[in-house]
Amino acid sequence: MMQRTAVYPGSFDPVTRGHLDIIQRASRLFDRVIVAAAENPAKQFTFSVSERLRMLEQSVRGLPGVEVDAMGGLIVDYLKAKNAYILIRGLRAVSDLDYEFQMASINRRLYPKVETVFLMPDERYTYLSSSIVKTVARFGAQVDELVPPPACRALARRFRGGRAENSRARRKR
Ligand code: PNS
Repeated sequence: MMQRTAVYPGSFDPVTRGHLDIIQRASRLFDRVIVAAAENPAKQFTFSVSERLRMLEQSVRGLPGVEVDAMGGLIVDYLKAKNAYILIRGLRAVSDLDYEFQMASINRRLYPKVETVFLMPDERYTYLSSSIVKTVARFGAQVDELVPPPACRALARRFRGGRAENSRARRKR
């Protein structure tokens, strides 16, 4: 029997309830959904790849067919390695389209078999992003309605004291 595998790549820095909404929708459409957290040495992440993976793993527990992995390099190379050609991306608003259209086009050029499937999250999450969540958490406001509990705890640990600089310094000690 053919198993349909979809890959949902992203930074997940940290995973939000918007990402989880997309993961749930994808898990209803495909047999297997690999949530791939990008490891990009050129990009500054707030959370390490192991922290991001742990938050994701704890958040997707119990969702049928969903697994979590780290991904380095190009998405298309990751898809080929997994013998997959379905790429999931969430589209919140028209503002996402420019970047997504560009990415889907280059990915199709690099790997003609790829099919980017855009899923629209619940409208509650239209204005939600990992960056917004970090800004809110950095200034000590509640984020429990925006992110799943594992991400909420990780944000609280990271931004305790209200200043990102403080927590970074604390981590080094
Ligand atoms: O949802 P995000 O955080 O914007 O996702 C960013 C992600 C992981 C999709 C981006 O960093 C990425 O594409 N990384 C891998 C490199 C790649 O294949 N880029 C597209 C073709 S150049």
